[in-house]
Amino acid sequence: ENPAIARGTGLFTPERENSRGHDIADRPARDGLLAARLDAGAAPKAVPLIVADLENGPAEPVENPATLAPAGSVHQASAAQVEAAIAAAQPWSQPASARAETLRRVADLYEADTPALLALLASESGKTLADAVAEIREAVDFLRYYAAQITTLRHPPRGIFTAISPWNFPLAIFTGQIAAALAAGNGVLAKPAEQTPLIAHHAVALMHRAGVPVAALQLLPGDGASVGAALTSDARISGVVFTGSTETAKLIRRAMAEKMAPTAPLIAETGGLNAMVVDSTALPEQAVRDIVTSAFQSAGQRCSALRCLYLQEDIAGPVLEMLSGAMDELALGNPAEIETDIGPVIDLEAAGPIRAHIAKAASEGRLIKQLPTPEGGHFIGPAMLRVGSIAEMKQEIFGPVLHVATFPADALDKVVAEINATGYGLTFGLHSRIASRIQSVAGKIHAGNAYVNRNQIGAVVGSQPFGGEGLSGTGPKAGGPEYVARFTAAPVTETQA
Ligand code: NAD
Ligand code: ALA
Repeated sequence: ENPAIARGTGLFTPERENSRGHDIADRPARDGLLAARLDAGAAPKAVPLIVADLENGPAEPVENPATLAPAGSVHQASAAQVEAAIAAAQPWSQPASARAETLRRVADLYEADTPALLALLASESGKTLADAVAEIREAVDFLRYYAAQITTLRHPPRGIFTAISPWNFPLAIFTGQIAAALAAGNGVLAKPAEQTPLIAHHAVALMHRAGVPVAALQLLPGDGASVGAALTSDARISGVVFTGSTETAKLIRRAMAEKMAPTAPLIAETGGLNAMVVDSTALPEQAVRDIVTSAFQSAGQRCSALRCLYLQEDIAGPVLEMLSGAMDELALGNPAEIETDIGPVIDLEAAGPIRAHIAKAASEGRLIKQLPTPEGGHFIGPAMLRVGSIAEMKQEIFGPVLHVATFPADALDKVVAEINATGYGLTFGLHSRIASRIQSVAGKIHAGNAYVNRNQIGAVVGSQPFGGEGLSGTGPKAGGPEYVARFTAAPVTETQA
């Protein structure tokens, strides 16, 4: 898709255009990016970035998931640093125009610092060049999109927000949460995922350099059970923005209910059990390309990724054969290599349950295909497993695993009902050439983002606001017109409650 489609003249915001990013199909441009990435500097270090001058704890290594070598080191925030940060936190009291200008400056700094960000995204989070370029673009778009909305806000900030983010978009989601809370004039206490503190540290250093006051944005690297829990159970915090698993969102909601004001919002984007339906009128080549992208790009480590494919049974045989051929073309390996399509999963803790899930399916005779798994890092050969229906999938498998079910021509309504019955509602894909069917399914499916005759990942800020319903999130959608307002003390509408 064209990253520049979300122009200021569009539906959602004035005076803004999405970042053009980099065209990595253009050989000289790509070689330039790779060379710059390699030059991006020595082993980085993450430390708490807080107002108080307290001594940092011991350094711990951060692992490169492709090579298992250290990607850098982190000093986790101590309990004293967390307490000092909460005590020193201040809303960002500068006027709206100054905040907007500063966030735009952050966006410019991100673009200028592309080589270092690419290097960190590869070494710390295992991102391929294509994924890393797209991620930087999305982070920049969030900054400019929320900056453009500042002057439209009609309510004061809430106070201090805790921002808790996942490792799978360590720059884009990390930045998007912070940018929205700051745009509304709040102060932010940011806790990045345990696996990706280096990117977070680099990003916050750029935000401070652009002029965001340290009291308005403090960084507290640490684990969920200590630092995360402390930052979501303190009466001085006015709200929490969280992206991660549905289970963690439940824990946070409980902690907030016990310790924080009953009016403090939890803005949560969580997991999904995302399906795609391909009927017998679909163009097989296009469907296969979009299935492979949706299920396996980023090693399946996207909340939006396709988990369960429903193929109409008349076309299942040929489509599966084509899918198998397309999978054979995927190159697995170190994301530092340009030919790599699929990198590793993030760590051993993530890899274990995915490997066990595939092994169980194999022992039950349900493994359709798995590509060989490279040695060394936390790699998992992309796999296809047979299931009777999505109802058999009790939880999100966050890796390169596609579950495949088939359905008879007259069972489409039943399939839609099965998908809705999971209770999740993040993304959905439909491949069909029948206009009335597209309209009918789109009207019935419970999904925040439904895509027709294309892949179902990579929502574009401003054009495709992203977020789910049911177990998948509270809304409002990130990169959409209502998001920043939720960080203000605006009266809560029923859909947001
Ligand atoms: P996770 O829930 O394990 O961790 C997310 C964050 O929560 C981390 O920073 C972690 O340290 C923190 N955390 C853990 N326990 C905590 C606690 N008790 N209190 C406070 N914070 C705590 O998720 P993950 O493994 O990092 O990310 C993958 C998950 O994120 C998947 O389920 C995926 O679907 C989801 N996700 C959703 C979206 C979306 O937009 N809907 C986007 C990306 C990822
Ligand atoms: N916004 C990300 C996507 O659409 C999660 O893939």
